[in-house]
Amino acid sequence: MAETQFAESQTIRVRVNGQEYEREVPVRRLLADFIRHDLGLTATHLGCEHGVCGACTIIMDGESVRSCLLFAVQADGAELQTLEGLADGDDMHPLQQAFWDNHALQCGFCTSGFLMSAVDLLDKHPRPSEEEIRHGLSGNLCRCTGYANIIKAVQAVAEQSQS
Ligand code: FES
Ligand code: FES
Repeated sequence: MAETQFAESQTIRVRVNGQEYEREVPVRRLLADFIRHDLGLTATHLGCEHGVCGACTIIMDGESVRSCLLFAVQADGAELQTLEGLADGDDMHPLQQAFWDNHALQCGFCTSGFLMSAVDLLDKHPRPSEEEIRHGLSGNLCRCTGYANIIKAVQAVAEQSQS
């Protein structure tokens, strides 16, 4: 019986932080590796590489996703946002500023994932309760246990949006 032939690579088009990219990628390349190595956007971090730590969180078509659990080809035609797309020139995004102001990071390895999850949370719930913030960020791990200040930072931005 003839062996089935599968394509080894595929051309994909994505829009990342407002910029269009077209690249040929191996079909088994992870979206996280594509973002980091093919596009050079290294703010997206890889920790566990199996969907547990949240360090690789990005926004894809308006939803936060773990880019280590997707293949790059699954993002073909999608609109992506990574940490690099948050700041407006030299002006930090309000969440970045709040993380800075509230000392919401120590080593910072997990920070980009927390920020992207928080962006998604506040996008969907601009005025979250503390419990909703804890729930919204429960898929992100900070090994330095900086959770209290991370929650304070998100609360600070939520309060700004109420004033
Ligand atoms: S690297 Fe993706 S969830 Fe940990
Ligand atoms: S700031 Fe160190 S793991 Fe999060």
